[in-house]
Amino acid sequence: SGSGFPLLVQTTVARQLHFIKNIGKGRYGEVWKARFRDQDVAVKIFSTLDEVSWQTEMDLYGTQMLRHENILGFVASDIGGTGSCTQMLLITDFHYGALFDYLRESQTPLPGWTMLSMAHSIANGLSHLHAQISGTAVKPAIVHRDMKSKNILVKADHSGKAGVVCVIADFGLAIREDAMKSLDTDKRQGTRRYMAPELLDFTIKKNNFEALKQSDIYSFSLIMWELARCTDLSGQREGYDLPYGPDVGNDPSFDDMRQVVCNQRKRPTIAPYWNQHEILAKYVSMMVECWNPNPSGRRTALSVKKGLARLQEQLLI
Ligand code: ADE
Repeated sequence: SGSGFPLLVQTTVARQLHFIKNIGKGRYGEVWKARFRDQDVAVKIFSTLDEVSWQTEMDLYGTQMLRHENILGFVASDIGGTGSCTQMLLITDFHYGALFDYLRESQTPLPGWTMLSMAHSIANGLSHLHAQISGTAVKPAIVHRDMKSKNILVKADHSGKAGVVCVIADFGLAIREDAMKSLDTDKRQGTRRYMAPELLDFTIKKNNFEALKQSDIYSFSLIMWELARCTDLSGQREGYDLPYGPDVGNDPSFDDMRQVVCNQRKRPTIAPYWNQHEILAKYVSMMVECWNPNPSGRRTALSVKKGLARLQEQLLI
């Protein structure tokens, strides 16, 4: 359309959307900021080629008890057709934007408290996702499989206690334990840069849900590293860099990643001064446990969440 706004099939849902601006574009499709029934929302318009991601995300948002302060909130979904094309929408809460952009574009260092509350909120969301809840309320365990700073959104904490916190987004690859089928039929894979060593060298245990949680934790450890680079908690900071940026550049192949992560057993660089600050040193030691080459040696999301809560308390003293 000449206006630049998306031309949609006018379904009941689409008629209630008032587009404001484009906030993202990629192979997945587009994301727009819009108004919907008197609230700001983010509208993800899926690429017509990626019906599988839309369906996966819809199924996931149908999960009982999924709602959580650190998981992107579902508002509505919609599907329409023009005959030749399928139009798939996902409408969610609106937040500032991706953690990746927030860290990369920030002119000022990340305060220590913000780094800890961001890391804690992501661990909190991941711990909820990974947890199976039983009793009167029931929730299956879920793995994300594409944890990375581009899939984390930054939001303001309206309780004012934590300051800036995050939510986990993009469930296009997520799997519920109660719906785990043959995994090898999946076309879309996670992001190569964030893939755990056992995924890169195919040693991951087959049909083992716990193993998929452990791979999520490895990816999360790289997000912890991205956060640590940006904080001035110790008085110094380096500024944003991609995990393994110096080792593999911008668009690494699967083999590039396997060379570095499995064969050379490299991990993102830890600046010596990180270990000279008491709280940052403890943060680093948790991060290192989470990128352990041995998946069963990694912490669980719950354990990282508790550890980070202790560091937050320590910072307040
Ligand atoms: N980018 C992608 N999803 C978003 C959302 N829900 N809010 C703000 N920016 C986004």
